[in-house]
Amino acid sequence: MSRSILVFDSGVGGLSILTEMQKLLPQHHYHYLFDHARLPYGELDEQVLIDGCVALILPVAQRIKADIVVIACNSASTLVLPALRAVLAIPVVGVVPAIKPAAHISASKHIGLLATPGTIKRHYTHQLIAEYASDCRVELFGSSELVLLAEQKCAGLPVSSQRIEQLLAPIRQTTIDVLVLGCTHFPMLKEEIAGVLGDGVTLLDSGEAVARRVQQLLLDDVSIDTDDMSAADAYYTGTITDGLTHLLHTKGFGTIKKLTANGQLDI
Ligand code: DGL
Repeated sequence: MSRSILVFDSGVGGLSILTEMQKLLPQHHYHYLFDHARLPYGELDEQVLIDGCVALILPVAQRIKADIVVIACNSASTLVLPALRAVLAIPVVGVVPAIKPAAHISASKHIGLLATPGTIKRHYTHQLIAEYASDCRVELFGSSELVLLAEQKCAGLPVSSQRIEQLLAPIRQTTIDVLVLGCTHFPMLKEEIAGVLGDGVTLLDSGEAVARRVQQLLLDDVSIDTDDMSAADAYYTGTITDGLTHLLHTKGFGTIKKLTANGQLDI
């Protein structure tokens, strides 16, 4: 049975989660909502982030009659889940940095977390590390510039490999063997990041884990083998470039609509 799934992020990052969900659960109708007006989320004040997310997500979830909401953004998930669950009667799934599997597979027990400055400083993240990686040395790296570079790449604009190399220089100086991509934007730069860090560092993200969690909650225990693209619509706040509109079309989004900060159609 086809369900209505709302996937949310500040920008293009959540598409890395949506792609995994479409692979595993192609039969559903996906609604991709992104808050471009307030990106980057990693720099926002915590209460401003929470209030803005609730104000935007709630009316959209109601309008599309969502069966489930996926917060495909680490910076938001580490904060807004309780507030959203308090106002929505449907499951709300968040994305958690892949600290647990990283600690598990690390041979050197020296791992890194690359995320937004917001995620890096959250109590939630530190608890996650204490709970699942207490046997590891964990290095934390925060960057909003990489978020903007991922946006740039997805809009079809050139991205400076030299700048990425500079931003990742502190990571290269360590001896970590696993790096958690704790921001959903960063899988968009996976090739570039792998190119800089080399084969000695395994990159881990949470896309597949979130897709499996959604599958469990929807009780769809068999994935359907089909070549059909699932139905998908996109909604955004702020402005988007022609390049990004083009990307959304090539990814199969039918409707692409601009919304106000309160989730109303901006016409
Ligand atoms: N994609 C988001 C995350 O996973 C947020 C990026 C941002 O807006 O700072 O953290």
